[in-house]
Amino acid sequence: MNRNDTLADLDRRAEAGGGDDRIRRQREGGRLTARERIATLFDPDSFEEIDKFVTHRCQDFGMAEQVVPGDGVVSGYGRINGRLAYAFAQDFTVFGGSLSETNAAKIVKVMDLAMKTGAPVIGLNDSGGARIQEGVASLGGYADIFLRNTLASGVVPQISAIMGPCAGGAVYSPAITDFVVMVKHTSYMFVTGPDVIRAVTHEQVTKEELGGAMTHNERSGVAHFAVEDDAACLALIRELLSFLPGNNLDDPPRIECADPVDRSDEALDSVVPEAANQAYDMLDVIRPIVDDGYFLQVHEHYARNILVGFARLGGRPVGIVANQPAHLAGTLDIDASVKGARFVRFCDAFNIPLVTFEDVPGFLPGTVQEFGGIIRQGAKLLYAYAEATVPKLAVITRKAYGGAYCVMSSKHLRTDVNYAWPAAEIAVMGADGAVNILYKREIESAEDPEAARAAKIAEYRDKFANPYIAAQRGFVDEVILPRQTRTRLIRALAALDAKRDRNPPKKHGNIPL
Ligand code: HXC
Repeated sequence: MNRNDTLADLDRRAEAGGGDDRIRRQREGGRLTARERIATLFDPDSFEEIDKFVTHRCQDFGMAEQVVPGDGVVSGYGRINGRLAYAFAQDFTVFGGSLSETNAAKIVKVMDLAMKTGAPVIGLNDSGGARIQEGVASLGGYADIFLRNTLASGVVPQISAIMGPCAGGAVYSPAITDFVVMVKHTSYMFVTGPDVIRAVTHEQVTKEELGGAMTHNERSGVAHFAVEDDAACLALIRELLSFLPGNNLDDPPRIECADPVDRSDEALDSVVPEAANQAYDMLDVIRPIVDDGYFLQVHEHYARNILVGFARLGGRPVGIVANQPAHLAGTLDIDASVKGARFVRFCDAFNIPLVTFEDVPGFLPGTVQEFGGIIRQGAKLLYAYAEATVPKLAVITRKAYGGAYCVMSSKHLRTDVNYAWPAAEIAVMGADGAVNILYKREIESAEDPEAARAAKIAEYRDKFANPYIAAQRGFVDEVILPRQTRTRLIRALAALDAKRDRNPPKKHGNIPL
């Protein structure tokens, strides 16, 4: 670049990226270019690019002759649904989107601006990783980004889209951010790829199996969303942002609510089956209660025994956490605890009230769980609920047993409003287990052990399997009819609008990681 370059020339060179051939290959692979992605993500004509003419400084390996203005990343700010947001999009057509010292500095610049101005940061990842020609300068660039990711955590929402390769240490930037969206079939994430794995452990695995969208959505839990293509990915990010505040000092954005706040849904009265061990779908509880039946699930494919996601009640965004009796009977296991804990902490950091729907028979028993550290992992969810100071509301739809009763937003963890439906069962354990422990000898020595067991179970259920003992103690504020739930939650949320609560001053807590 020199005085003879016109602004128009430079603009054209920056916008040409890695050239027509590489752009064609990018499109043939089903991927949009970095600039197309940015244009789709932001409101029309709202994007302001920063550092369009930045170039790398590498003189080695013939790099001095290969200079593309912008250096493989498009960065800047604009409006999403009318609200300020910052973004960077790695351009795979320029040196494989690899991260150089200068392109890392561009990313750091938008992250710093986002933190100063209190706006979300969206990273569109599509990169071969550290720019090999630059060595440690590139690695340093990654570390600079990781530091910003960490400092921005809990200050502004951070969303990562994986829209191509994301390998090696590069994965740790998305991993620190709040949400990871992966595009099916075109994206992958791994710390070491199939070739290294084959050499070291002799395992044979494809890129897709190792780090494709469904692997990380279903198995590892690294990703929160899987989408069909780039357009769906960018639309989802816009949708997700509509629930989130710009920063930790703002409230989440409210919208006009056309769904009547006093809508009563009689179908809810019969969602929970009569038989205590019969499954039902908790989505049939959540959807009729929230505005327009709309629930944006987060981590839909992972740990399906717990549901988390965003909805609105009377136009106010809420974070919903719910046991799912249709999967593993809604028990809490390691994955469900970690999934729930991370979501609760996100909502708490960003002033999003929490609404919990509870039907939990307890923690999942077994050696796999115990050896995997269910004690430590389950404690994460307990800790997250306990430290959360946002408005907290809970509805016990059926079972609230044992330690899981305490964990799932119980009154004892500072939950503001606890409701129970009439079918709720709140006890130390289920009737079968309790009777076996309390009356083992009595039943064994009875003339008809089965009849004796049945009688004891009936007695136990009459005494404990109801919400009224908890209501007598004030652990449940009120027993409500299922059909009233929407109205009651909306009223409670309005009452909690000005809630202020705080934790003791400390540097930070020590959540059992
Ligand atoms: C410089 C790179 C590059 C890199 C790709 N390119 N990766 N240039 N540094 N890391 C260039 C290629 O030379 C090529 O240039 C162009 O980008 C496209 O790459 P292809 O290989 O042709 O594309 P494709 O076949 O789609 O394969 C994509 C790929 C592969 C799987 C990502 O390029 C690859 O394996 N790259 C290296 C990945 C890697 O090991 N990175 C380091 C990871 S470790 P031309 O001129 O031909 O178009 C890491 C550490 C981070 O990142 C540490 C943080 C703490």
